[in-house]
This record gives sequence, structure tokens and C-alpha cells, in this order.
Amino acid sequence: MVTAFHNIALLTSGGDAPGLNAAIRAVVRAANYHGIAVTGIHDGYDGMMDGDFQELTSAGVSGIIQRGGTILKSSRSDRFTTVEGRRLAFEQLKRHHIDGVILIGGDGSFAGARAFTAEHSIPFVAIPKTIDNDINGTDFTIGYDTAINTAMEAIDKIRDTAESHNKIFFVEVMGRDAGFIAYRTGLGVGAEAIYIPETKTDLQHLYTVLDKGWSRKKSSIIVVVAEGDEVGGAATISKKVNERYPQFAVRLCILGHIQRGGSPTCSDRVLATRLGVGAVNALLEGQSNIMVGEINHDIVYTPLADARKRALQITPSMMEMLNILSS
Ligand code: F6P
Repeated sequence: MVTAFHNIALLTSGGDAPGLNAAIRAVVRAANYHGIAVTGIHDGYDGMMDGDFQELTSAGVSGIIQRGGTILKSSRSDRFTTVEGRRLAFEQLKRHHIDGVILIGGDGSFAGARAFTAEHSIPFVAIPKTIDNDINGTDFTIGYDTAINTAMEAIDKIRDTAESHNKIFFVEVMGRDAGFIAYRTGLGVGAEAIYIPETKTDLQHLYTVLDKGWSRKKSSIIVVVAEGDEVGGAATISKKVNERYPQFAVRLCILGHIQRGGSPTCSDRVLATRLGVGAVNALLEGQSNIMVGEINHDIVYTPLADARKRALQITPSMMEMLNILSS
């Protein structure tokens, strides 16, 4: 079935992630290709309520595929959590003759979309982005691949200086309450230990790793810690190690927002492009209240109701691999 659309709205919402501009470009180009106009909404849901709208054209999205951030800007909106805020937003969409919405967002933005679509009737399609990679219905979210590569490159540099001075580094990466970034980056940099919220952090295990490293005269040790680790992040763990081993040169590095910026990797650009085109196709097929994702290289649709936060599933073999590599 092909549904007719004349003017769809497009917004980016929540924390930015590399690849947003690539997704914007893909949505605009795909929509224009099908004769549909695209109205860009500035500042996420805040701009939707304020009517901060601007037409986006295929020509206007040239040269943005490689840029980090979002040309539409973004926000985490408190006002949109209210019934009144969402009513205002719907009025603005009607005033601007919008007949469909494509949202590029994460878990928080999807919760807003669920509330909005329960109250107001307008076809709504979501595209998952977050460096945290913690959303159901897709193997990867836009921005995750770039973030882990940024973190990996930063930690490689830390390894150089750690090696030169026989230092132990505790490096904290983002991920909120999920360990995807820490787990994958930790494997990629050959970390001596990785601590994530999905597994119980055993400091005794860390002390064994450090003792072994010391006895084998290792010239550097890198411990990657997810910011959401239940023991309290890299600062807490490094403090404990400092107290127990005053003879070691222990350093702390919190990578922070560097992980959110930069030019997207090829994988993120391609994912964003596929999901952007997929979102327009979903609308044309008459789909509504769904999220478009990619699983095993296929484009898949998940009801918005099920597009929720997920944790990293640590299997026994993943656990075994971590133990082997840190031994
Ligand atoms: O969700 C993306 C993320 O970067 C998390 O990894 C992090 O915990 C959070 O956003 C930081 O948010 P803010 O930019 O508001 O400090």
C-alpha cells in the first residue's frame, strides 16, 4: 500500500550522536524523491511546541553527511512530558499542515513519542540514535560505532603514555546505565579489565589482575570502566586502588563528551542513511507508531511500544573471553 504524504516533519531529540546529519540528509532526499516536502523542526520537542520550523530541501542537506552534531539542534524537553506541552505541539503540526512525523531520538524521546501518539493521531516513525546503543529492535543505534572508535583512539593514546611511565589508568567511558561502549571499546584496546553495570564488579578480581601484572612486570595497565558501573565509576575504583597500592602510579581519565562528537564513521553514515530511507518507506507503506531498525543487515520495524531500553546481554562465553583476555 502506498500512502500519500505532502509534508512531513523531521526532528532530532535527546543527546546528540554522530550520524544525525547523515540521517537527516537521507530522510530529506528520500522524501523529496517521492514528492514529499520536509519541514525541519529545530531544538527537538521544544521547537515542535514553539513552532520553530524550517523547510529542508535536498539541495540544502548537501555536504552534511560527514558532520557531527545535528544541523537541526536538539533538546531534552521537560515541557513535552506534560499533556499541555504535547497539545501545543500537535496544534503547531496542524498549523503547518504536517501529515507525518519522523523522529530521530533515543529512549527518552521515544517515551515522549508514545505519550504523544496515544493522545494525538498522526503517523509517527522513529529512528534510533544514541551512542549508548541501548535500544531494542536494532543491532546498532546511530552514533555508537563512532563513539567506540573515538574512545578506542583516545585509549590507544593513553596506552602510549601509560607504557612510557609504567602507569595504571582507569578510563571511564559513557553509556549511562549500559555497558555496550565499555565492553566493546575495552576489547578493542586490549584492556586488562573491563567493568560494566551488567556484571557484578569484583574488586578482588581487579586486585588479582594488578598483582599478576606487577609480578609479570607489565609496563602499563588499562582498566575501562562504564560510567554506570554499580561500584561507582572509574573515580571510585581508582581511589580504592590508590589506597591499596600507594606504590603504583595510578591515573584517572574520564573521556566524557568527546565520545559524542566528531565525524561519523562509515558504518554510522551507512546505518543512518539506511534508517533514514527506511523511515520514509515505512510512512509510505502506511506504517505508524513504529521504530525502524537494522537487524542482521535487514531493515525491520518494531512497534514504538516495544522500542525500549535494553541492557547488554553478557553470555557465559563473553564472560569467559573477558577472563581469558585479562589473565
Ligand atoms: O545518552 C547519551 C549520553 O551521552 C550518555 O552516555 C551520558 O550518560 C549522557 O548522555 C550525558 O548527558 P548530558 O550530555 O546531558 O551530560
